[in-house]
Amino acid sequence: MTSFTVSGGRPLRGRITVPGDKSISHRALILAALAEGTSVVRGLSDGDDVARTRAAVEAMGASVDGEKITGGRTRLHEPDDVLDMGNSGTGIRLLAGLCAGLPWLTVLTGDESIRRRPMLRILEPLESMGARLHGRGGRYAPLVALPAELRGVDVETRVASAQVKSAILLAGLSAEGESRVRQRVATRPHTEELLALAGGDIEVSDGGRDVRLRPTPLSPFQLDVPGDPSQAAFWLVAACLVPDSDVVVDEVYLGPTRSAFVDVLARMGADIDRVGPAQVRARYSPDLHGTEVGGGEVSALIDEIPVLAVAAALAEGDTTFRDAGELRVKESDRIATTTAGLAAMGATYELTNDGFVVTGPNTLHGALVTSHGDHRIAMALAVAGLAAHGTTTIDGWEAVATSYPGFEHDLERLCGS
Ligand code: S3P
Repeated sequence: MTSFTVSGGRPLRGRITVPGDKSISHRALILAALAEGTSVVRGLSDGDDVARTRAAVEAMGASVDGEKITGGRTRLHEPDDVLDMGNSGTGIRLLAGLCAGLPWLTVLTGDESIRRRPMLRILEPLESMGARLHGRGGRYAPLVALPAELRGVDVETRVASAQVKSAILLAGLSAEGESRVRQRVATRPHTEELLALAGGDIEVSDGGRDVRLRPTPLSPFQLDVPGDPSQAAFWLVAACLVPDSDVVVDEVYLGPTRSAFVDVLARMGADIDRVGPAQVRARYSPDLHGTEVGGGEVSALIDEIPVLAVAAALAEGDTTFRDAGELRVKESDRIATTTAGLAAMGATYELTNDGFVVTGPNTLHGALVTSHGDHRIAMALAVAGLAAHGTTTIDGWEAVATSYPGFEHDLERLCGS
């Protein structure tokens, strides 16, 4: 296990780009593997999660040579071995959808965290399409997909999850007839966006909540993967919290359902703005105050809640995170791990039945904390460390490689040392 030590109070200044968006990167690899020919994808995320999806599509016969990805149904074949998706929930759930419709056996597994995460949410709708997909204990990875004839379905999903929606759509590419996914809340639209780019027969209505797909062959595409807003959030929150900071994140995805954290920070009184179509600037914001985060907004900032909780710890009054039960089934139980880390550094919080309330302002102090094997918790605690007095050591730092291997380097660059 490795650890990382951050000292507090160093201003963050300058412009930065963050790794390619992780969600878009997974989908680009999977759809390029299906597209008949060579796609060109620039700027894929360099994290381990996306490396796992790349290895999985290669094991199925796609070729990835730098920016060139060559795929097609006739190239793909049964993988020789189990596909190990590591820590990646998106990787395993999306590939389960894809593999449910392929005419061979696929076994998908992952690390200890993945093998604890709920899979019934994809198993049930995929089974309703005729998939022969089995999970350990009926509901956990490893997952086994056997050849099956799939038929289109009309599903209203039970959880607001882009992974569930995407698994159904990817299975729908191999199904007979139309597949329709309806969601009560719009979730990140990257599968739909990339299916449209690859010439898929897809229709999106009701503000993104209603998606219909008819199976057609996909065409190769060209894509520049934009920067990941969920990674940008760490620098932007840090800039709001550390005196004298001024950070601009360039080339970042600011499309629907991904940048709600900017609005929440603005609502808290932060000096933060979208200063271009793909640019956000944040400056030190001494007068933050609490806010309420809940309802439909939650799925648009679910991955940013740990770092927003750090801002909440320094804000005056209560910040309430409601309707956030999904946090319990992420890479770690993020309600427990976020609050435990912040409490160790001096923050005050209370748990509720579907979230938590942070009461501030608190003076954070350096402490020994742990990532609990969760990349976003590690990075959120590093941000807390930057805003704290003294030094903070984060154990389990290796988890950061899941999504942001260059985090330390970028931190040093912004802090000017
Ligand atoms: C993701 C969807 C979200 C998010 C995850 C990435 C995706 O999960 O938390 O980090 O790429 O589809 P859910 O689909 O479970 O909400």
